[in-house]
Amino acid sequence: MDSDFIRPYIRSLTPYSTARDEFAGAASVFLDANENPYPTTVNRYPDPHQRLLKARIAELKEIAAERIFLGNGSDEAIDLLVRVMDCTVGGITITSPTYGMYKVAAVSNGVSIVDAPLREDFSLDMEAISRASKGGSRLLFLCSPNNPTGMQYELEDIRRVLAAFEGVVVVDEAYVEFADTPSALELLPECSRMVVLHTFSKAWGMAGIRLGMAFADSEIISAMNKLKLPYNVSELTQRYAIERLRKPERMEREVSELRDRRALLVRELESLEGVMRVFPSGGNFVLVKVSDARTVFRALQSRRIVVRDRSMERGCEGCLRITIGTSEENGALIDALREVL
Ligand SMILES: Cc1ncc(COP(=O)(O)O)c(C=O)c1O
Repeated sequence: MDSDFIRPYIRSLTPYSTARDEFAGAASVFLDANENPYPTTVNRYPDPHQRLLKARIAELKEIAAERIFLGNGSDEAIDLLVRVMDCTVGGITITSPTYGMYKVAAVSNGVSIVDAPLREDFSLDMEAISRASKGGSRLLFLCSPNNPTGMQYELEDIRRVLAAFEGVVVVDEAYVEFADTPSALELLPECSRMVVLHTFSKAWGMAGIRLGMAFADSEIISAMNKLKLPYNVSELTQRYAIERLRKPERMEREVSELRDRRALLVRELESLEGVMRVFPSGGNFVLVKVSDARTVFRALQSRRIVVRDRSMERGCEGCLRITIGTSEENGALIDALREVL
């Protein structure tokens, strides 16, 4: 990877060294970190490098531990990437409509945004992406399957993005387990300027523990690790995730059920009068076009059913984003829509 993509002051930054960095052996007396010695299972600081958890994830994803960053949700990785990469001049590129946090991370770090909007059919506009790159942008966020459109991009599309965009391409695969397309992790060995984001919040059902992953060239990962807060992943999170990783079958079963339920919900939605379009989705949600999204949103809310109104997003006029729930929840939604539409 071209080191110039990383902000110069981060390349030369010496990170904070924790008490646990300075001694990694098996000591029996810990008087180095000003902790409370009375044991409660959480009285000690957690491993700042999350070694055990990373070793498990390395096995699961078949990737070396030095190419893994773990954060407080993938939102932390998104924010760190904006802060690590040198996008002060050319800004970051997004392909709207897409996940809103890319914009928030840019704005809150004083970084400008270049939009290479999706085409009307939600496919990628390679010419707009290439223009953004030529304009000096060095960081692009690509979401696949895309939130909120549900569109999933083929590996060939991602290869074309990498050819059109000369900076670092972040492929956010928060929903990849629900998709039909393979993960862009497959492309990592052939491209050092790509970052892939995964999360435990969706398919793994652990949104509450806040744990996200970034996979990339070790130079990018080490820059992210330099900048992160020392103990960014709590002891409880690390332990809980290790425990749950022992049994991936649960996640696989739930994903399979949710995919079946997604297909059923799409059929039911399509059969409703007043539903103008259901967009194909590779995520655990569907984007649905109705004639008056705001009114439908409010009417559902008054029946204590909350969906996401995306009608203000460019290209998503009239659209609601609906998460795939349990059979009962989906049934309640369809019953309510029958009354409302
Ligand atoms: C595309 C996308 N990326 C990242 C996230 C954030 O995930 P996490 O819970 O890991 O911070 C979300 C959450 O909705 C998302 O939709």
